[in-house]
Amino acid sequence: MANVEKKVNVAILGATGRVGQELLLVLEQRNFPIGELRLLASARSKDTTITFKGKQYPVIEPSAEAFAGIDIVLASAGEEISKKFAPMAVEQGACVIDNSNAFRMEPTVPLVVPEVNGAALANHKGIIANPNCSTAQLVVVLKPLHDAAGLKRVIVSTYQSVSGAGKEAIDELEMQTHSVLHEKEMPPQVFQKQIAFNLIPHIDKFLDNGYTKEEMKVVDETRKILDLPELPVTCTAVRVPVVISHSESVTVDLERPLSPGQARELLASSPSIEVWDDPSKGIYPTPIEATGQDPVYVGRIRHDTSSAQGLNLWVVADNLRIGAALNAVRIAEYLLEHNLLKKFAHAGS
Ligand SMILES: NC(=O)c1ccc[n+]([C@@H]2O[C@H](COP(=O)([O-])OP(=O)(O)OC[C@H]3O[C@@H](n4cnc5c(N)ncnc54)[C@H](OP(=O)(O)O)[C@@H]3O)[C@@H](O)[C@H]2O)c1
Repeated sequence: MANVEKKVNVAILGATGRVGQELLLVLEQRNFPIGELRLLASARSKDTTITFKGKQYPVIEPSAEAFAGIDIVLASAGEEISKKFAPMAVEQGACVIDNSNAFRMEPTVPLVVPEVNGAALANHKGIIANPNCSTAQLVVVLKPLHDAAGLKRVIVSTYQSVSGAGKEAIDELEMQTHSVLHEKEMPPQVFQKQIAFNLIPHIDKFLDNGYTKEEMKVVDETRKILDLPELPVTCTAVRVPVVISHSESVTVDLERPLSPGQARELLASSPSIEVWDDPSKGIYPTPIEATGQDPVYVGRIRHDTSSAQGLNLWVVADNLRIGAALNAVRIAEYLLEHNLLKKFAHAGS
């Protein structure tokens, strides 16, 4: 990160989870200027320790005391835990960067991907929301297309890895794959149906409109981040038996002409995107190649033959990094670099 002298006290709520572990990795890789570090999880993790930069930290349960003196809370313990503890942490003087769905659509809470709408952080009130993992990688690609040619409509189908559902989901895919290969039964517990050698068009619960909640998160969050409240967006979200990295088939209708070549050039000029697009040489991104990496990868850019001004794209990114940990740490870095780390204790009373 840019040279920031100040050290900040950081707490990770959900430190033992899949996103929590990735947060620790990203903080170390980016040499984030940590003063004190507190690692929080449930009572299940009591008496365990986590090693960070060679030092062992005890895992403690969240409480007002655990947040006292903390500047930034990186929260990844799920929606209900965030609803319960984020206001408590803000009351203790911390800024909370929340990975859950708890606050994303609240009008006073900025929903941020820093390279797309970092300016929205200027007015935060202590809680900042990280988008859903599928939305995060999508908006990084949509933003330059919109600035260049105007988005008229967006159609997305997602191919989401099991790590998007947490550590138990990864275990289920691994154990079920082993069971199926050895002709043993392993009924699903985390997923609705067998995920090994299968795919499931059902992520989060079904809503009255026939969409899943996951699909409507992509619709609503994309509109909020791009500040295009009327943008027509539709999504089908599918869980696939991939461990890490989400893929998306994206179709955009544009206001003004943009050739596939122009789109390739435009997207390649974004510091957050790598264009891998030479199918004749077998060059296009896949989840395995995106895993552990920081760019959003785009390939298969082509004219949509069913529409005058349409493009089809294939977008792949590491959901644990782009869709969660890296985005959260980039928000924290933005707060530091722009002197936006404010205290809101007692602000609401
Ligand atoms: N995975 C992704 O790609 C992704 C992307 C964007 C957002 N998110 C969001 O990030 C959050 C975490 O996801 P994850 O994939 O890391 O899940 P996970 O692997 O299941 O981890 C959940 C974490 O929450 C902790 N936790 C559970 N109940 C708690 C309680 N009562 N008090 C304190 N801590 C508690 C767990 O602690 P124990 O180990 O002690 O149980 C664990 O550290 C979710 O809201 C998810 O929607 C995930």
